[in-house]
Amino acid sequence: MDSTTKISREELVELALKVSENAVAHHSNFHVGAALETTQGEVFTGCNVESDSYGLTICAERVALTKALSEGEREFTRIAIVGIQHDSEGQPDFTEDSGQALGPCGACRQLLWDHCRDIEVIGATPEGEVGKVWQLAELLPDAFNYEKKT
Ligand code: THU
Repeated sequence: MDSTTKISREELVELALKVSENAVAHHSNFHVGAALETTQGEVFTGCNVESDSYGLTICAERVALTKALSEGEREFTRIAIVGIQHDSEGQPDFTEDSGQALGPCGACRQLLWDHCRDIEVIGATPEGEVGKVWQLAELLPDAFNYEKKT
């Protein structure tokens, strides 16, 4: 796929927004969606999946990443992420985070670095706009790189 047929950042955010509707977020009510693009232009999406044992919660980025890896994908270009706080009635509540781009958590930064290296990270606002665009190396400076010696 060449650059003329590549989907736009806005379209990648749209896919992240769509999958956030599937979030299993009964503890935080924070619905997160991620859309990870391969170098071939295929997109793998994921939402957050919370656990009653809070620490076992899986972030949207890691769901998208593990879906792609388990389908054999190994090369990636971009990831878009969006998070929308909902109220206790299940309605979106933009008041707190309006206009603010969501950045990936520290654990996801490391896992994305491990498997995607220096991809573009598109942090969307809860309203679904492109908020900030980073390179992953900016979000994880001096990253840990493990190289097996023997
Ligand atoms: N969450 C994500 O899915 N991705 C992030 O980068 C930040 C946090 C989820 C985990 C949990 O379900 C909820 O957001 C609140 O932390």
